[in-house]
Amino acid sequence: MKNLSFAQVLYYLTSDLKFDFDAIKNFSDQCPPGSVVDFGAGYGRTASVHNNRKQFLVENCKDMINLINAPTELDIEIKEEHAHNISIPSNSVSLCTFCWATLGELRPLVFAIGEAARVLKKGGGLYTVMLNSETNTMPEKGLRWKHSSPTSFTASITTLPYSEIGQYEYQTQMKVRNTEGDDFYIIKQAFPPANVLAELLKEFGFNQIKISDAQSGLSFDKDKTKLYQITAIKESEEVSADQKALKNIYNSIASRYDSVVLDGKYQGLEWLKRKIKPFEGSYPMVLDLGCGNGISSNVFKELNIHGSIYGIDFSEEMILKAREKNYYKGLIAYDLNKRFPIIESLEFDMVLALGVLEFVSDIDKMLKNIRNILTLAGEAFLTFELTTEDSLPSGQVIPTHEYTKYHYTKEEIVNKLSHSNLHIIEIEEGPGYFSPTLKKDVPYLYVHVSRRTL
Ligand SMILES: C[S@@+](CC[C@H](N)C(=O)[O-])C[C@H]1O[C@@H](n2cnc3c(N)ncnc32)[C@H](O)[C@@H]1O
Repeated sequence: MKNLSFAQVLYYLTSDLKFDFDAIKNFSDQCPPGSVVDFGAGYGRTASVHNNRKQFLVENCKDMINLINAPTELDIEIKEEHAHNISIPSNSVSLCTFCWATLGELRPLVFAIGEAARVLKKGGGLYTVMLNSETNTMPEKGLRWKHSSPTSFTASITTLPYSEIGQYEYQTQMKVRNTEGDDFYIIKQAFPPANVLAELLKEFGFNQIKISDAQSGLSFDKDKTKLYQITAIKESEEVSADQKALKNIYNSIASRYDSVVLDGKYQGLEWLKRKIKPFEGSYPMVLDLGCGNGISSNVFKELNIHGSIYGIDFSEEMILKAREKNYYKGLIAYDLNKRFPIIESLEFDMVLALGVLEFVSDIDKMLKNIRNILTLAGEAFLTFELTTEDSLPSGQVIPTHEYTKYHYTKEEIVNKLSHSNLHIIEIEEGPGYFSPTLKKDVPYLYVHVSRRTL
């Protein structure tokens, strides 16, 4: 066994696989004119299908990129980036493709689908082809390829049992053994069943979802290895009037959000800085709910915390600004009131929900979701707006602003935390921010909780 890179191993192992180029071409022809993004483009095998479109090949493995050998006349731009976070403008692309096993490798799927939904313009198409995990995809004894490559490479792959690890997340493990009998790679892949993937696509505003069997073109185990193909069209999402009003406000202040925070004497970040100091120098997995323009990443930078930070916010403009901070591993524009994005395949050491829970309609469900995605030792940093004597009723649309806000008494919050099995480490009352409308500070309850009892 010579020193082959991971990419080269895959290259030799999969060079037998043939995509159904006609199916991709057919769908591509139905999509509006414009560019294509190929997520996890590998060594660019589908590139020649789209000979009339500008193509972005998104691939984060340098070795794979080195193997790209596309005809020079094609209009190709290689993006050496992770598919969870790509530097392509929103609503600008006509077709997104995830071919062969790509989508299975892009866990958590929500961030991959989220990026496709973001970059596609209305009417743009999504194409994917996946192993169908429901139909005993892998031969019992495992897949076995033998190849005589220039480096005389031989390897076998065993597929370990397939399991569901979350609502949208499934995994298959592969053990790669070289000729000397050494196991040297375990590849985890996730192939959700077609109907599950279709559900996820609907969550992100896709429609006209078509599922069909796909040609595997495999030279091994043709009968057992089934593929499915999904095509879908991006539609615009339905948003309720009050959610739309709030989203518009945040979209409009996204580019000046840092100064809004300063002017509003917002205290959330100072509190966060004090609380997360013990994480200094560490690499936690972090989920930032309602991440806004990514302002909390300033605190992480300052404290030299370099974890894998994922951010979610329903304002696309905020997400764009957060992207510019270059600190988030994945960012999605997603409405937390619609549904909590299922990211069960990931667990987080830290969840932040700062300045956002006052906009969440089902707070009990949200707290339970937060608890479920925390690691055993995981901690969450949450802020709640407190009820005051002159508060408008909680959950009512505020007439002057046309959006809904939720506030609670301290007792209500303590009760809710206890019902969702979140253990209070510390609770602090204090000013949240200065409201120019009310001309006074809005009181917050700052809550530091853990999943387990300390
Ligand atoms: C006050 S800002 C807080 C931003 C940041 N977490 C901070 O501490 O500065 C509230 C954020 O929540 C987002 N947000 C409000 N409702 C949301 C919802 N239903 N789903 C997702 N994000 C929402 C807004 O777009 C906005 O960026």
